[in-house]
Amino acid sequence: MLSPPASLTPAGEAGKVMRPRVDIYPSKADLESAAGSEILRIVRLSIRERGVCTLALSGGETPRGLYRRLAALHPGEAPDWSRIHLCFGDERMVPPDDPESNYGMVRHEIISRVPLPAGNVHRIRGERPPEIAAAEYAADLGRTLPLSGERFDLVLLGLGDDGHTASLFPGTDVLREREKSVCAVYVERLSVWRVTVTLPVINRARNVLFLVSGSGKKEIVRKVLASVSPAAEFPAMLVNPSDSPPHWILDSGAGASIQTGTEESGNQ
Ligand code: 6PG
Repeated sequence: MLSPPASLTPAGEAGKVMRPRVDIYPSKADLESAAGSEILRIVRLSIRERGVCTLALSGGETPRGLYRRLAALHPGEAPDWSRIHLCFGDERMVPPDDPESNYGMVRHEIISRVPLPAGNVHRIRGERPPEIAAAEYAADLGRTLPLSGERFDLVLLGLGDDGHTASLFPGTDVLREREKSVCAVYVERLSVWRVTVTLPVINRARNVLFLVSGSGKKEIVRKVLASVSPAAEFPAMLVNPSDSPPHWILDSGAGASIQTGTEESGNQ
C-alpha cells in the first residue's frame, strides 16, 4: 500500500470547522490502495480496542474498486470479517437486485466474497416504503451501534457534483435534522426517494473518510474544501466530526483545483 504524499492543506483561511486532512494520489488505483490501508488500520484498531468494528459504507461508483480490493485481500492481510458490522450511509429506494442499489453493489463486491456473518450485514430495505425503511434501519442501528459505543467506527462518504454526501442533498430538510438517526428524503432534483443517516450520526463517528475520484469532481472539491464555514449549499461541508477532522482521499483528477500547502508557502 502506498504511503501518502505530503498532506495538502486546502486553500482558504482556517475555517469555523476543523480543517480536513486532504491527501491526493496520482491515480484512482493509488487512491484505492491508500484508502484500503486507512480502512484496514481503522478496522484493526477498532477490533483491538472494542472487539468489533462498525462501518457505514458509501454507495455510488467511486468505492466499487476499493470494495473489490478489500474483498480480495489474502487471508494474511484480510480483516477478521466476523468482527465487522457492515452498515450503509444511505440507500436508493429500489430492490436489492436493481443496478442502482447500493446494497446490491456491496453484496456483489464484498458480501458475496468474504466470510461476513449474515447477522453482521445491516442494509436499508430499499424495497420498502421509504419512511418504514428509515424507521427499520434506525432500529437496526439502535441495536448495532451500542456494540461500538453508540457511534460508527468509520463512515465512508462520497461527494456528488452538487456537494451532496450520503443522501444529504442541498436544500433538503434532513440537513436540519438533529434528533433522528435515519431519515427518508425526497430528492426533487432527481425525483427519487432516498434513505440516509443524518449529520448527527456522521459527526459522532470516530472516523470519516471521503473518497473522491476524477476530474469531473475537481470544481466541487475546490468549492467544498475552500468553504470557510459550514454551508448547507454544500452539505459535505456540514460533516464536521467531533473526534477528528474528516479525511479526504482524492486522486489527482479530483484534487486538480486545490492549492497545495507548498504553493501557498512558496516552497516550490
Ligand atoms: C449514493 C451515494 C452518494 C455518492 C455520491 C458520489 O447513494 O449515490 O451515497 O452520496 O457517494 O453521489 O457518487 P459517485 O461515486 O457515483 O460519483
